[in-house]
Amino acid sequence: MDLKQEINRRRTFAIISHPDAGKTTLTEKLLLYGGAIQTAGSVKGKATAKHAVSDWMELEKQRGISITSSVMQFEYDGYCINILDTPGHQDFSEDTYRTLMAADSVVMVIDAAKGIEPQTRKLFKVTAMRHIPIFTFINKLDRDARDPFELLDQLEKEFGIGTYPVNWPIGCGVDFKGVFDRDRRQIMTFNEFHRGQDRLQAIECDITDTEKLDELIGEYSRRDLVDQIELLDGASFDFDIDQVRCGKLTPVFFGSALTNFGVEPFLENFLKMTTAPLARNTTEGEVVPESENFSAFVFKIQANMNKAHRDRMTFMRICSGKFERDKEYYHVQGKKSLRLSQPQQLMADSRQIVNEAYAGDIIGVFDPGIFSIGDTVCEAKHKVEFEGIPTFAPEHFAVIEHKDSLKRKQFVKGVEQIAQEGAIQIFHEPNTGMERVIVGVVGVLQFEVLEHRLKNEYNVDVIRTNMPYQFIRWIKNEEIDVSKLNLTSDTKWVQDFKGNNLLIFTSEWNINWALDKNEGLILEDFSRN
Ligand code: G4P
Repeated sequence: MDLKQEINRRRTFAIISHPDAGKTTLTEKLLLYGGAIQTAGSVKGKATAKHAVSDWMELEKQRGISITSSVMQFEYDGYCINILDTPGHQDFSEDTYRTLMAADSVVMVIDAAKGIEPQTRKLFKVTAMRHIPIFTFINKLDRDARDPFELLDQLEKEFGIGTYPVNWPIGCGVDFKGVFDRDRRQIMTFNEFHRGQDRLQAIECDITDTEKLDELIGEYSRRDLVDQIELLDGASFDFDIDQVRCGKLTPVFFGSALTNFGVEPFLENFLKMTTAPLARNTTEGEVVPESENFSAFVFKIQANMNKAHRDRMTFMRICSGKFERDKEYYHVQGKKSLRLSQPQQLMADSRQIVNEAYAGDIIGVFDPGIFSIGDTVCEAKHKVEFEGIPTFAPEHFAVIEHKDSLKRKQFVKGVEQIAQEGAIQIFHEPNTGMERVIVGVVGVLQFEVLEHRLKNEYNVDVIRTNMPYQFIRWIKNEEIDVSKLNLTSDTKWVQDFKGNNLLIFTSEWNINWALDKNEGLILEDFSRN
């Protein structure tokens, strides 16, 4: 297979959901179809103690949750699929957001009884920023669900996107009889509704075959379905692949990951509708995936996967060309040529050294501490630099101090290194040093991760004092005496370690106050490149 064919058969996507909507279950079923795992429970083995591939950190193991995002590769029907998993617990960090930067499309899993939930909202916002295709899998139809029209309406109204149901559910809960395939104008149902089987042989029946339909799903369900389909055909958006490709129209699939219903049709349609690896912007212009020249960017750094070695693993998304294991590449930010050490790819339940990988793939390399998030690795002869990865505004703040002043050095080193990995953002009050660091995080669990890591990896105990702030803004005015600003008493002035001035606020109301009372003050949202 030549370079172009290899790249064109790649599909790299992230799965997002609010916790418990069924992301892990769906991922697992996809891996089962691809033959990448043999048994359900390999991805998340709470009961069986088989740990998910992302369970590297001790803290994760203790909690039985997955803090970091991982990536899994498998083959299906000639496609080479990379699934980027995003943390599935109540909390999340910038890591989740950054993972979305490495994907070419996103699958959003929604619980049919709950509709859109808070984390779906946050993740959708970041996905929408990138204008990449978004596919919706409405899950758990085997349980009581909300009206499907209502669910579509919610997606359209809240997210401002069009919806195109690729299939339509016939009932839900104990009355769930199957789905109607809108393209083939057929229903897929079963003689008997099996639960928990890996593959089911569906019975197909034309929507016009009233007699057979009555036999299969009953007259009542048939009448209901025909009415709903008529309504749907009349009122819904037309399918338009260009709209799908730019994220303005989301193909919607109804199913039940747990009972395996609708997973295979979803996968098949999804693979056809989604895109091969996309071109990426660099300072030198766009880089197309089929370019002969290898290039990749760092989107995730995972520290201390092996405590004994203090190692870090850096994950890169290959954006163009082919990666070869023993070749020398160029690290743009470090201004150095290097060989990537022990390049690895993560399969469903194992890691393996890769000799070659292509645009669309993700590789992990051992990192002695040279890479930062957003860095570019490419060919020395064809230097490019990828556009930075946005920084996401922290929403929680705390003061962190070391308990033992003799440990100051380790404390500073630890906090700085963890900040460099992008797990936390650090600030300080003007005119103070590193004794009291103000830490900002996207999800509160990151505080616990920070404390745990400072203790375990740097041998430093810290005192954390949570702060009430929730919003952060840059002060963009170059010449300004911040101490003279008229601010509410619960607004705080902080600086980052480059000396930039920022304000942290407890409410939006206080942001508006600052703008109202200080003419000419320019505040900028924190998310930026
Ligand atoms: P997440 O990764 O999005 O957090 O969700 P996960 O797949 O772990 O699923 C959350 C719970 O919902 C699990 O049950 C899972 O079995 C169940 N679930 C997933 N898909 C479906 C579905 O299509 N129908 C039904 N009825 N349930 C579904 P749990 O009891 O919390 O966990 P477990 O003990 O089964 O692992």
